[in-house]
Amino acid sequence: MELIEQFIVNEGKVINEQVLKVDSFLNHAIHPKLMKEIGNEFAERFKNDHSTKILTLESSGIAPALMTALALNCELVFARKRKSITMTEDLFTTTVHSYTKNTDNEISVSRNLLKPSDRVLIIDDFLANGQAALGLIDLVHQAGASVTGLGIVIEKSFQPGRQILLDKGYKIESLARISSLSNKKVTFANQLEE
Ligand code: G4P
Ligand code: NA
Ligand code: NA
Repeated sequence: MELIEQFIVNEGKVINEQVLKVDSFLNHAIHPKLMKEIGNEFAERFKNDHSTKILTLESSGIAPALMTALALNCELVFARKRKSITMTEDLFTTTVHSYTKNTDNEISVSRNLLKPSDRVLIIDDFLANGQAALGLIDLVHQAGASVTGLGIVIEKSFQPGRQILLDKGYKIESLARISSLSNKKVTFANQLEE
């Protein structure tokens, strides 16, 4: 998707060879029109998969997931990292390992929000090592529901997440695929293929 690549080139900051900062439109400030286009693009790519629900992870997954849910006319649920005081129901819970922070974090969804009949499209802002995506997939499977695919706004293709998910047979659609952040520069995977 060219628009997200333009935002990355114009406003992204390469922090180091592993990390891209996109606080001006995705991770801190949020650009509404960009999110709307992202939602429309995911809806187009997943329109034939009959998803009943979008699942994402707070906080940065929520904006693109909401616009996708609107475009696909389906429900939206986000997994929580901290349990709210009102989350007194039974929960589906799983542990997500963060390689960057070397921590294990629990994420949860109330059991009444995921049903065995649900066909769940997972949306997230970044795909790096794939641990957050695997955690969300685990929550869906705990509910007895199925995963229709994964929609990722920015994929760091030089990290292992994409291959891990492909090896498990999931459909992945990433709107921007970054093949390298070397030399303080963003290189997209489609630039290499050309
Ligand atoms: P890891 O797999 O590489 O170890 O990353 P980890 O799951 O620990 O992700 C930590 C957070 O960093 C996640 O957001 C993830 O989306 C984000 N992230 C990973 N790589 C990048 C990157 O290159 N750039 C940016 N901007 N973010 C990255 P989070 O902690 O869940 O925060 P949020 O959803 O509240 O924003
Ligand atoms: Na994030
Ligand atoms: Na995220």
